Amino acid sequence: MSVKSLLRVLGAVGESYVPIFRPPRHEHTESSRYCYSVWLRHLVMAYEKNLTQSIPGVVAELGPGKSLGTLLAALISGAQTCYAFDVVQHFGKKRNQKIFDELIELFGRREDIPDEDELPRVKPFLKSYRFPSYILTDEHLKEMLSKVRLNTIRNSLACMRGATGNNTPISYRIPWDNSHVLAESSVDMIYSQAVMEHVDDVRFAYETMYRWLRNGGFVSHQIDFKCHGTATEWSGHWSYSDRAWKLIRGSRRYFINRLPHSAHIHLLEQNGFKVVSDIKVEERRGVERGRLAKEFRCLCDEDLKTSGAFIQAVKR
Ligand SMILES: C[S@@+](CC[C@H](N)C(=O)[O-])C[C@H]1O[C@@H](n2cnc3c(N)ncnc32)[C@H](O)[C@@H]1O
Repeated sequence: MSVKSLLRVLGAVGESYVPIFRPPRHEHTESSRYCYSVWLRHLVMAYEKNLTQSIPGVVAELGPGKSLGTLLAALISGAQTCYAFDVVQHFGKKRNQKIFDELIELFGRREDIPDEDELPRVKPFLKSYRFPSYILTDEHLKEMLSKVRLNTIRNSLACMRGATGNNTPISYRIPWDNSHVLAESSVDMIYSQAVMEHVDDVRFAYETMYRWLRNGGFVSHQIDFKCHGTATEWSGHWSYSDRAWKLIRGSRRYFINRLPHSAHIHLLEQNGFKVVSDIKVEERRGVERGRLAKEFRCLCDEDLKTSGAFIQAVKR
C-alpha cells in the first residue's frame, strides 16, 4: 500500500472510527436492561448446556465497560462474589448504584429478557426470552432479594476501591496484568460480552482463565469478529497489513486484535478447555479473498464468513 493510500485510509478511519466503534444507544452496559439481558442470556445458555445446575457462586467478567451492571445482575441472581477486569475504567460509582436499583426492579417484576426486537445487535439469541423462572424460582428470588442481602451489596458498591480478593461481594482490578490477581481454581464462571476481540494477548487471557477456574468451571464469551468501523466491509480489517494496522491503532489503549473465530477455538482447546457451545453468526458480503493482506491469506472459508460467535467452554 502506498503512503498516499495509507493516509487516505487513516483519514477515513480517523473520521469514522469513533462513531461507528461505539455501539448504538442502549446496547452497552450503561443500560440496566442491556445488563439484565446479557447476564441472563449467558446464564440461560449455561443451563441449556448443563454447565451448571445452580447460580455460579464466584463469577468474573472481562471488560465490563460503562458499568458493572452485568455482574450486579449476577449478584442479584445469587452469585456470592464477583470480580471485574478491564484495561480502562469506564464506569463510575453513581452509574453502578443507579443500575443496581433498576436491576432490582427488573428481577422483582420477573421481567422477560429484553429480546432481539429491543436489542437487535446483542447476541446470543435465545430460543425463548421468557423470564427463566425454572432457574430463578420464586423461593430462590425471595431470598436473593431480601433487604439485608441487597443492602450488603449496596454498601459494597458505595465503598468499592477496586482491589480484588477482599471478601466483598464485588470488586475489580484495572488494569489487570498478571494472573496472580485471583487465586488459582477459585472461580466458577468467567464471561465477557464484546471483549475478547479487543484483548491484545488472547493466549495469556485464556491461559489465565483456565488457571482461575475450578475444575468443571466454564467460560462464556460473545465475540464480535467484525471490523469495528475500520473498513467498509465487515471483514475489511483483514485487508490491512500488520504495518498499516499498527499505524491505524496509533496509541489507543485497546483496539481489535483481528483474530478470527478458529484462532479462539484453537487457543481455548490448546489451554485445556473443551468447547461445548459454538454458535456462529454468518455474514456473506465480506472482503474478497484477493484483497486480503498477506498476513490473512491463509484464513479458511469458514473464518471469512464468521462475523461473530458465542462460545462456551469447560475446564477439563
Ligand atoms: C466494546 S466494550 C464492551 C463492554 C461491555 N462488555 C458491554 O457489553 O457493553 C469492550 C471492553 O473491553 C475492554 N477491554 C479491552 N481490552 C481488554 C483486556 N485486555 N482485558 C479486559 N478488558 C479489556 C474495554 O476497556 C471495554 O470495556
